[in-house]
Amino acid sequence: MSRTVTGQIIYRKLMPLDRDALETHLIALDGDSRRARFGMVATDAFLREYAMRCITLNATIHGAFLDDQLIGVAELRPMGNLFAEDAELAFSVLPDHRNRGIGSVLFGRVLRSARNRTLARLHMNCLRYNAPMRALARKFAAEIHVEHDQSVALVATPPRSIVSLLGEALDDASAWPSQIWAWQRGAYATGITSKGKPAHRI
Ligand SMILES: CC(C)(COP(=O)(O)OP(=O)(O)OC[C@H]1O[C@@H](n2cnc3c(N)ncnc32)[C@H](O)[C@@H]1OP(=O)(O)O)[C@@H](O)C(=O)NCCC(=O)NCCS
Repeated sequence: MSRTVTGQIIYRKLMPLDRDALETHLIALDGDSRRARFGMVATDAFLREYAMRCITLNATIHGAFLDDQLIGVAELRPMGNLFAEDAELAFSVLPDHRNRGIGSVLFGRVLRSARNRTLARLHMNCLRYNAPMRALARKFAAEIHVEHDQSVALVATPPRSIVSLLGEALDDASAWPSQIWAWQRGAYATGITSKGKPAHRI
């Protein structure tokens, strides 16, 4: 059952300071979603460990935030060295927020990031019977080519263009104000400033 949306959904990339939000997001996934996302049974302990290691320098993680809650995630993780052309692609949207286009927006953004990083082949741990994920990929059929085998989908991306590069740069720039504001609110909420001193509300 869908929940009523009370705020505006903000799409932006995740940074190391978003680790707790990512952990909360992953833990909130039910058993079926975890299996669909990770291709296996994922315990809370595994997800905590995963969230701690997940935000690395070479990974690009796009998030959808609603009122400070991370409700959708798309991960792009290059496989191998700096010049890798292959990457892992993974998605998760919280069950209460599905079927309203969040996965599609994240797919578009992460696909553009892959193009801009010349990651030509994306491997998705997509179960053969994952109908929502297949429906989502079909929407981008004009841009990508998807091959399915038993458990992995291979997505071939188009080359980058000036439009894709500028689009990502503009989205990153416009996300900064809300990102800084969210971190500041988080620091006040925990009573700690960036200098480690208690924060005082004015
Ligand atoms: C796959 C997932 C990310 C999609 O997120 P989402 O926000 O619901 O995606 P969207 O709303 O943009 O699109 C979903 C599409 O699937 C379709 N869909 C949903 N359930 C479906 C089903 N049972 N059968 C067929 N299509 C279905 C929707 O109708 C929609 O297509 P439409 O917009 O053409 O109507 C989400 O379902 C999820 O997190 N699943 C668990 C984790 C997972 O499977 N990850 C993918 C593998 S890494």
